[in-house]
Amino acid sequence: MDQINLASKCIKEGELVIFPTETVYGIGADAMNPIAVKKIYKAKNRPSQNPIIVHISNRLQIDGIVEKVGTIENKLIDKFWPGPLTIIFQRHKNMPDAVSAGKDTIAVRMPSNDIVRDLIKEAGTPIAAPSANISGRVSPTDFTDLDPEITQQVCAVIDGGKCMYGLESTVVRVMDRKVYILRHGAVTKEMIEHIGLEVAEREDKEILSPGTSFKHYSPKSKIIMVEKSLYKDQIENYVNKGVVVAAIGVDQLLLGLDESVKKISLGDENDLEQVAGNVFSALMELDKVDVQLGIVHDFTNEGIGAAIMDRLKRASVSI
Ligand code: TXA
Ligand code: MG
Repeated sequence: MDQINLASKCIKEGELVIFPTETVYGIGADAMNPIAVKKIYKAKNRPSQNPIIVHISNRLQIDGIVEKVGTIENKLIDKFWPGPLTIIFQRHKNMPDAVSAGKDTIAVRMPSNDIVRDLIKEAGTPIAAPSANISGRVSPTDFTDLDPEITQQVCAVIDGGKCMYGLESTVVRVMDRKVYILRHGAVTKEMIEHIGLEVAEREDKEILSPGTSFKHYSPKSKIIMVEKSLYKDQIENYVNKGVVVAAIGVDQLLLGLDESVKKISLGDENDLEQVAGNVFSALMELDKVDVQLGIVHDFTNEGIGAAIMDRLKRASVSI
C-alpha cells in the first residue's frame, strides 16, 4: 500500500495524519468527524478556542461546508485556488462545531500540493488541518523538521520533502465588500489589489482570527529584531559585551560580521520569496546552535515582506 492509500485509510477511520502542503506540513483529520477533529487539538495542545482550516480538493466540495460563496470570494477563488490562500466564510450548519471552535464562520483552503489533494480525494472527505507543530512552536516546512512529540501521536506521516513556500497560507475575510487580511502569506495585499479588489486593515484581527493573538513561532532562544541600517553596529555591541550571538539575516548583511558570530542565512536579499521560505528553518536552526541571543534585521512591509515581518516579529521579543 502506498503512503497516500495508507494515510487515507487512517483518515476514514477517524485517525490523524501528517502530510505536506505547499505552505507547511499539516496535521489533519476527517473534517466531518468531530471526535477525530478533537484529537488534533489534543495532539498539538491547541487552545480549544482556535478554529481549524478545512482543506478541499475540488471546488464542488465547498457547498456542504459554507453557507454561500459571494462574488468577491468567487473572484479570489478563481484567481488563487488551488494555492496558499485561506478564505473565511459563514459556516454551513452541517459542519461540526469542533472545526470552527464554536464560531459561526469557517476557514477553507484548496491546497495546490498534489500529495494533499490526492489524500483528500482518496479519503473522500474534506480534511481539517492546522500546521503540524505543537502549539506555540515553529511550523515544520520540511519532513526532517517534524517533531517526534507530534509524529508519534498520528496514524500516518507522509514524506513530501521541503514545502514550496515554507510559510502558512494568507488568511482573508470579506466584509463590507473589502478583503481583510487576517494573516499575511504568499498571496500578498498587492496581488489581491491587482485583481481589482479593495484590501483593508482591521485593528481587531485577534478577535476575527484567534490564532493571531497567540504567542507563536517561539524558538527556545531569545531573538531580537533591529533596524537593518543598525544591524552590524548592534551585533558588534553585543559581541563587545561578551554575549554569544547568532545573526539571522540575508547573505548580503551577514558578510563581514565578526567571525565569533554564528551566522544563519535567510538567503538572498533580492529574493524575498526565498527569504520567506527560509524563516522557519532559520528559527529551528537557531535552537540547534549554542548561543545566548539571536539577532535578526527588519524587512520591507511590501509584498511578501509583510508575511516575513509578521513571522519574525512574533518570534522576537520587544526591546
Ligand atoms: O498554510 C496553512 O494555512 C497551513 C496548512 C497546513 O494548510 N495551516 C495552518 O493552520 O497554518 P493553523 O491552524 O496553524 O492556522 C490557521 C489560522 C489560525 O490563525 C486560525 O485562528 C485561523 O487560521 N482561522 C481558522 N479558522 C478560522 C475562522 N473560522 N475564523 C477566523 N480565523 C480562523
Ligand atoms: Mg499554526
